[in-house]
Amino acid sequence: METVLETRNLRKVFSAGSREQVLAVDDVSFTVGVGEKVAIIGESGSGKTTVAKLVTRLLAVTSGQIFLDGVDITNARGNTLKQAYRKMQMVFQSPIDSFDPRCTLGDGIAESLRNHGATKAEAQAETARLLTLCGLRADFANCYPHEVSGGQCQRAAIARALAIAPQLLILDEATSALDVTVQAEIMALLNRLQQELSMSYLFICHDIALVQDFCDRVLVMKDGRIVEEGTAEAIIRHPQIEYTQMLIDSVL
Ligand SMILES: Nc1ncnc2c1ncn2[C@@H]1O[C@H](COP(=O)(O)OP(=O)(O)OP(=O)(O)O)[C@@H](O)[C@H]1O
Ligand SMILES: [Mg+2]
Repeated sequence: METVLETRNLRKVFSAGSREQVLAVDDVSFTVGVGEKVAIIGESGSGKTTVAKLVTRLLAVTSGQIFLDGVDITNARGNTLKQAYRKMQMVFQSPIDSFDPRCTLGDGIAESLRNHGATKAEAQAETARLLTLCGLRADFANCYPHEVSGGQCQRAAIARALAIAPQLLILDEATSALDVTVQAEIMALLNRLQQELSMSYLFICHDIALVQDFCDRVLVMKDGRIVEEGTAEAIIRHPQIEYTQMLIDSVL
């Protein structure tokens, strides 16, 4: 299988002021294949979000390497990083924080399109198409983030992440705050995009049932390290270590 993302020996040490140093991510190596859906599960504080932020370059690595579509982006800046964001997008847990409160949802989505070369008219048309694709009426483009529900805002955030048709979408508890019907619709949309565009996903989620339904492979994190990995089926039905069994038991 062709690889879209590869991390090699990622390590992140936080040294927050007077606090002790925290080894948040330790020797994390994994790949995500083209069209593959990979989950990261693990207890709170195990380093999942930090991995997502290292991969998306929102945080700098302490050591290790990140390859996106074969390009080393570990220390990419400027144009190279901009190119990387054409291939990779991230959706966070809290949708309202990911939009500028002073701009409409449509402006937020169109900005992303215009940054990647679309004209104003093209961006407007594409924004309408994306909102519809994500199950929102096109006129939601005129709403401000505080004027819509959490689920609607999260759909708009996903529409924005999809605006540039990334090869890799990283979702950090992106559907956790949504009610089950909206969540199911969004998962169906993500599945469709995976089939139609061979999109790949790195899916951070504590909902084991969702992971089982949606993902091909699972990475299990504990104390910053990957302690077990395998197909979703194998991990959930036959976990090899007690910690994984505990994670599964604690949510089912
Ligand atoms: N900016 C930061 N400064 C210092 N320590 C941090 C920082 N961000 C995260 N950490 C620490 O790194 C470790 C991993 O945190 P991370 O947010 O990656 O965990 P997580 O697996 O995403 O947890 P959750 O399931 O609660 O979201 C934790 O011990 C956390 O306290
Ligand atoms: Mg987290």
